[in-house]
Amino acid sequence: MSDAASDVVTEALEELRQRLQGLDEGAVADYIPQLAQADPDCFGLALVSMDGHRYRAGRCDTEFTLQSVTKPFVLALALAELGPEAVDRRVGTEPSGEAFNAISLDPATGRPANPMINAGAIAVTALVPAADPARRFARILECLGRFAGRPLAVDEAVYRSEAETGDRNRALAYLMRGTGALAGDPAEAVETYFRQCAVLATVDDLAVMAATLANGGVNPVTGAVVVPEPVAVRVLALMATCGMYDAAGDWMVRVGLPAKSGVSGGLVAAGPARFGIAVHSPPLDAVGNPVRGVAALRELSGRFGLHLM
Ligand code: DON
Repeated sequence: MSDAASDVVTEALEELRQRLQGLDEGAVADYIPQLAQADPDCFGLALVSMDGHRYRAGRCDTEFTLQSVTKPFVLALALAELGPEAVDRRVGTEPSGEAFNAISLDPATGRPANPMINAGAIAVTALVPAADPARRFARILECLGRFAGRPLAVDEAVYRSEAETGDRNRALAYLMRGTGALAGDPAEAVETYFRQCAVLATVDDLAVMAATLANGGVNPVTGAVVVPEPVAVRVLALMATCGMYDAAGDWMVRVGLPAKSGVSGGLVAAGPARFGIAVHSPPLDAVGNPVRGVAALRELSGRFGLHLM
């Protein structure tokens, strides 16, 4: 990108940060008690291009737990290890049209609708091959770190807070063992999933993670091949159809990019072969998507013609 174009991107991010900082809507998630501690005014945006150039505005180096934003990256790990057929046997590839935590299993197959809702993500986490749960989580953490280009850690307080209150996810895991969607022990699967949700990263990290998917699985900053290109393409397709839960249709019409949100206020979007973008701002809308992140991506998509269609 030329210096002039680069200045335009930085100015657009900074202008959005200033304007959307005043958007006083939504509520910080509190069903995981520790998440309620988040600063509702914390707001950062970053974009990473395919040549590894970074553009940023606001709080981009504050760590927060990734929550559901980990789902596409752990899916990529499972797909890279096992191939699509083995994953498809346990988890579907259709938007659910329901909330992220819905007790939603296909009556015919017993599978969760897709890997972006909690049920599907728990089933995917359990599929990651490893000799024991500790090594399974170590592989997940290591893979998330390769996407980010640096080693990541877990927020133990957030992990414990979800482990103490996450009975709905536990119920989903046991239900899925009953239907055959879940491999292995439900209690272990859900504890590994809670740890995965509590992995800490910054907006800067997340933009690199999204850019790695946009770049066909190659981290544009470190040059590491994190996952094979067909895996990155498949993950982007599932983000496009299911990443924004029951707002996925509205998102695709108005923003037109594969994306994934999380209850701590993180949001990633990818412009295939162009850029990865990340936003963090804790207040969420009624669907569970971050209010400022959604508003920022709508504006950026319109202004720079980022819509894929
Ligand atoms: O399983 C949960 O409920 C959380 N650990 C993650 C959910 C989430 O981030 C949904 N995103 N909007």
